[in-house]
Amino acid sequence: MMKTNYFENLINEIDLNSPPPENEPQRQAWYLARAAHLVTARKKEAGRDLTFRVETFGCQMNARDSEKIIGILERAGFSEAASEDADFLVYNTCTVRDNADQRVFGRLGRAGHLKRNRPGMKIAVCGCMVQEKTNVEKIQKSYRFVDLIFGTHNLYRFAEYLCNTLESEGMQIEIWDRADRIVEALPAARKYSFKSGTNITFGCNNFCSYCIVPYVRGRERSRAPQDILRECEQLAADGVVEIMLLGQNVNSYGKDLETPCSFAQLLEEVCRIEGLKRIRFMTPHPKDLSDDVIRVVRDNAKIARHIHLPLQSGSDRILKRMNRHYTKDQYIALAQKIRAQIPDVSITTDIIVGFPGENDVDIDDTIDVVRTVGFDNAFTFIYSKRAGTPAAKMPDQVPEADKSRMFDRVLQAVQETAHGRAQHLTGRTMEALAEEVNVKDSRYITARLSNNMLVHVPGDPSMVGKMLQVRLDDCRGFYFFGTVVEK
Ligand code: SAH
Ligand code: SF4
Ligand code: F3S
Repeated sequence: MMKTNYFENLINEIDLNSPPPENEPQRQAWYLARAAHLVTARKKEAGRDLTFRVETFGCQMNARDSEKIIGILERAGFSEAASEDADFLVYNTCTVRDNADQRVFGRLGRAGHLKRNRPGMKIAVCGCMVQEKTNVEKIQKSYRFVDLIFGTHNLYRFAEYLCNTLESEGMQIEIWDRADRIVEALPAARKYSFKSGTNITFGCNNFCSYCIVPYVRGRERSRAPQDILRECEQLAADGVVEIMLLGQNVNSYGKDLETPCSFAQLLEEVCRIEGLKRIRFMTPHPKDLSDDVIRVVRDNAKIARHIHLPLQSGSDRILKRMNRHYTKDQYIALAQKIRAQIPDVSITTDIIVGFPGENDVDIDDTIDVVRTVGFDNAFTFIYSKRAGTPAAKMPDQVPEADKSRMFDRVLQAVQETAHGRAQHLTGRTMEALAEEVNVKDSRYITARLSNNMLVHVPGDPSMVGKMLQVRLDDCRGFYFFGTVVEK
């Protein structure tokens, strides 16, 4: 776990006999000190460890938020459980599509059964789903065993909520409509010792007509460049070699700061940090991916040769109704510029199929972009109606059968281009960061290329976290089998 020394010092200076301070992050330090006190006492009482489990749904933002939650739980003295049968269970939820909601409710139902057999178990639900009133009402009505519900804007107060939950019975709910501030310096755990994500912006201002994110994550806010750089430096000092800069639209980074700083400038600064070997970012919106950013990627070998550039649709008519602010031709021109400027770059994308009013002619356009750009990979989603978004009110919703037929068409085109793109790398030797022991066969290590593709190589756990030179021997569609070679 990465401990920010500043925060650790705050905790050590806390006097639990005085009331909790009003200022942040001092207030959270006070509550964390108190939670640690309570956990120590309870462990003694029970004569065993207390455990936690955090189940994460959704995107990289949520993954990073979960690391912040875990950082607090670990500092409070809980140890991680192997399953949801734990003393403190957290569901960090996503609501971007309906099936994300359904999965959480299913899991929550089962957690209720676990709680019956585990006295003192606490269950928390947080994240994007609970920013929607209807979901909170549903939990209040049908999942009454839940102890704590908190939203995305007040996550920084988790230590306080944790402490209150440990000390009280009944359901505690705190959801805010908007963020009041960005609180720096709180501790965060890391899933991997050698790579990490760092938020650069929170929220989104784009209001794509299908998307719930701006409603559940609020308006866009940038972290100050010095805070981001300080965090990256600390991570590097702590052994992290790969950092992913996270934002719903990284290109608009810095526009809201008192002293504006562009995303390209920030990227260049992060590249200067010693010890970092690879820098990634997610997600650039095609409407404003600047030439400066392309140049910075081209000129800095540390930046991954990978641009995730969500297309959503290739039809101008649909793009307009989606409120995406680019046309098919503009998207293609941008992708071609990226390919021309950055050798070996991979371009991946997100596509939504079955948006209101969409028909097979629109899908022809989408498939045309898929083939023209030649995506290295694509996540294809069936449109999911999100209450409260403009698209949900559009009258021409597409029948499920049509959605699924159009989905199959797009998927087939995507698979063809992706296989072709991977195939042409066969035989090359490239740098790959060893990430983990292969889940299916422990004689192999799974490593990630700069272009985000995976390669499995014979090896052992000591390689994890190291940058390897790997020959890509055998292409298996989206991934490779390879061998480590000497430089
Ligand atoms: N900010 C990022 C992505 C956020 S959500 C961006 O703009 O690209 C991740 C992906 O989920 C989106 O790219 C989109 O393809 C998909 N998505 C969002 N809302 C959706 C909906 N209502 N139905 C289906 N897919 C959706
Ligand atoms: Fe959603 Fe669009 Fe914002 Fe991405 S840019 S989070 S798709 S509103
Ligand atoms: Fe889901 Fe929230 Fe991310 S809705 S995709 S977890 S921002």
